[in-house]
Amino acid sequence: MNIIRNIKGSKDLLPSDVCNWQALESAIHNFTKKFGYKEIRTPIFEESSLFERGVGADTDIVNKEMYSWMDQGNKSLTLRPELTAPVVRAYIQHELGKLNPINKLYYLGPLFRRERPQKGRQRQFHQFGVEVFGSPFPEQDAEVILMAYSLLKSLGLNQINLEINTIGSQDNRAEYISILQNILNDYRTHLSSLDQQRLDKNPLRLFDSKDPKCIELLEDKAPTMYKYISKDDREHFSSVCTMLDALSIPYVHNERLVRGLDYYTHTTFEITSKSLGSQDAICGGGRYDGLVEQLGGPVTPAIGFAAGIERIMLALDTDFAGESIDIFIVAMGSEAIQFGMQIAQELRLKYNLVVVVETLQRSLRSQMREANRLSAKYCIIIGQDEINKATMMVKNMQDGSQDDINKSDIINYFINK
Ligand code: HAM
Repeated sequence: MNIIRNIKGSKDLLPSDVCNWQALESAIHNFTKKFGYKEIRTPIFEESSLFERGVGADTDIVNKEMYSWMDQGNKSLTLRPELTAPVVRAYIQHELGKLNPINKLYYLGPLFRRERPQKGRQRQFHQFGVEVFGSPFPEQDAEVILMAYSLLKSLGLNQINLEINTIGSQDNRAEYISILQNILNDYRTHLSSLDQQRLDKNPLRLFDSKDPKCIELLEDKAPTMYKYISKDDREHFSSVCTMLDALSIPYVHNERLVRGLDYYTHTTFEITSKSLGSQDAICGGGRYDGLVEQLGGPVTPAIGFAAGIERIMLALDTDFAGESIDIFIVAMGSEAIQFGMQIAQELRLKYNLVVVVETLQRSLRSQMREANRLSAKYCIIIGQDEINKATMMVKNMQDGSQDDINKSDIINYFINK
């Protein structure tokens, strides 16, 4: 009979993976807390219209990558493909802006995009991200970029590059878009039918095209948006750069960095890693000053980023959580196992120790081998003899020394271990 396998583009995380994930997750929680950010958790599914209105109907995500279905109540629902729109929805719905003038939030969780799976690209993947609501100032942009860059550095990612840009406000964009359309219309026959549609409906999305002809055409003919942004926007961007210089964060100004989602305004940024293959973007983000209002909330400046956890793992390519336990209880026979379980529980509760008890009724030799496999610091060896004598042997697995300990003293023995 055929066995049932996981869905293409999704992955099982086995215990050997999970210990690395847990270490990364706790590094992320600790890191974000140091900046005073608070965690938010939103549902895995949302109304489809949230992403259509929020991310943009012409984006690749909404156009071809969403897992959507009609539920029994005739509502179109979607597994979240990104988390900015859901966090904005929650911010508006719970009126978080009324509680605090500034809300600094972070999240960590699974997302779903029906992309072609390859190294670093899955259909179910995970992101860590932050979203800040309330500050229009360049200091906020600098703080968010600092967080993204220094978190990746602190995890041990050395070969990373930060690119930043500004795409100005929605108002300046109208002028740029019409110029872009005028120029590229002369070359529309060079474009694929999808890119021709993009040219007509949302020319900025041409920058997401994977077609080499389109990429070449944009490089040769398209002016960069930077030339069309206002004086205020230039000043904002230049302040962000000055602050990044002061914080010693190296960056490159890439005038062609647009990002593939419609909600961005002003500052955009991306961090890539040389150690990844073609899917080299670890993190992307930017300002989205119009999105809260566009989704029905009050005018609210906002900025954030998200980083792909799988890509961080790939770029790290090391085990950064060494698995070890404090005590392995070697127990021979059911009476010994029962006693072993009692003292294990006392040691866990009293001293917070990690204690594993034998439950396979293996030979003494196999149990000692298991203790070594688990990198136990100590073994407590309990056999029928030990139960009769009311003593047990404690073996220090690091230096090999052994002590015979009275049954009544065994818990206290570990007081300072
Ligand atoms: P994004 O650029 O679509 O931005 O995704 C951010 C990161 O998620 C990427 O740089 C990548 O590391 C990871 N990622 C995306 N798709 C996949 C995939 N199929 N498989 C594995 N990893 C993937 C956003 O999602 C925005 N919401 C970021 C943001 C937050 N902007 C402002 N606030």
